[in-house]
Amino acid sequence: MSCETTSKNATPPQRGIAPGSESIDAHEVALRTTIDPRIPAVVPGFDAPFFQAGLAGYSDAAMRIIARRQGCPYCVTEALLDRTLLAGGRGFAKADLGDLEDNIPGGIEDQPLAGQIMGSDPDEMSRAAVRMIEQGSWSGRTRGVGHKDTQPLRVEEAPPDERLAFATIDINLACPVKKIKAKARGGHWLRDPEGALEILSAVREALPSGVATTLKIRRGSDDSEEAERNFMRLFDGAYELGYAWATVHGRTVEQKYVGPSRWTFLRDLVRRRPDRIIFGSGDIWEVEDIFRMIEYTGVHAVSVARGCIGDPWIFRRARQMMAGETPTWPTLDEQREVLLNHFHLSAAVNGEVKAGKLMRKFGIRFARHHPESETVRRRFIHVSSTAEWEAVLDEHYTKPSEAGAAAC
Ligand SMILES: Cc1cc2nc3c(=O)[nH]c(=O)nc-3n(C[C@H](O)[C@H](O)[C@H](O)COP(=O)(O)O)c2cc1C
Repeated sequence: MSCETTSKNATPPQRGIAPGSESIDAHEVALRTTIDPRIPAVVPGFDAPFFQAGLAGYSDAAMRIIARRQGCPYCVTEALLDRTLLAGGRGFAKADLGDLEDNIPGGIEDQPLAGQIMGSDPDEMSRAAVRMIEQGSWSGRTRGVGHKDTQPLRVEEAPPDERLAFATIDINLACPVKKIKAKARGGHWLRDPEGALEILSAVREALPSGVATTLKIRRGSDDSEEAERNFMRLFDGAYELGYAWATVHGRTVEQKYVGPSRWTFLRDLVRRRPDRIIFGSGDIWEVEDIFRMIEYTGVHAVSVARGCIGDPWIFRRARQMMAGETPTWPTLDEQREVLLNHFHLSAAVNGEVKAGKLMRKFGIRFARHHPESETVRRRFIHVSSTAEWEAVLDEHYTKPSEAGAAAC
């Protein structure tokens, strides 16, 4: 099971609720946007105010590496259920949010990385957080995509200079999936802030001080005043416990992915808590949305979620805008290279059979950039192997002259 949305639970791309934001000049904002120095102080290398969100069913090491190659400075794994971690990844297929392998960092290129976990019991969550750190500990020399059998390192045995593959542990208090809620996980906790704070406290205490903790949260369980009070209690309590930042999704849990994200909520929150580092999420579809959200709400970084599925170049465009350059769309050659690399990375992480299925979803989204998008989209739907993926690329992503040359 995953956080995957269905048409019933999600509405098509639209703008977040932000009256007055129409007049914002995203290019002008980008030029003067910098990263708050407190952020790279927590996560060295996090050098631009945007990142790739956790996306169950998508944001595995392959997708993350592809995003990083286009300039994404920081990524979050998909939410991993505490019990999956404690069980070593086995026996929880039905309740699992993303397989364990998906959350194994992809090596030196997959840095810095937040490992996201979700669960219902403080003890299990704290043990899972420690396990995540142990699982992700590495010497920085041998680990990488496809290497899943390195020996875990005990947290307490880690030498002070040991590089931990996870720069932060991110607690998911946002996932709206029903089954998860029924088991008191994810967004469910917004109805029970004291219970959630017990989890946050247990996790914080279990981890060494050098490992930062962060959280992902929605703006409330619903639109009631009580929900807002609960949100504030949980939000403030997290920072008091030492959490470095919260990524706030401007939709309620009840909303799932239906209707717009409320950027006004994010703006008001930043005004009410000016000293906190706050990240924003919701309705980031185009690169301009990143800078519109920063300007309108004052958040310190923006989470790019559905908007980067099949569009890793959104990060390149963001960097280009910050450098005062005109953002460029990927040429067919650039698309081909990324699509080829993404499939190969996915096969290394997931094995070819799983990659074949997974990459169809990406192919459909990648096709949007192709001049014959509908034809290409239909071709990707049926792909199931490396050879088939490459055949689509040869057929549709090679200029006629090159295709001729290749055929000779
Ligand atoms: C298919 C899907 C899977 C998601 N999985 C996760 C997840 O594992 N962890 C998480 O923090 N958020 C997850 N989210 C939420 C996104 O990170 C993001 O907060 C949300 O999509 C709102 O941003 P957007 O409107 O720009 O897409 C998921 C969203 C979608 C659509």
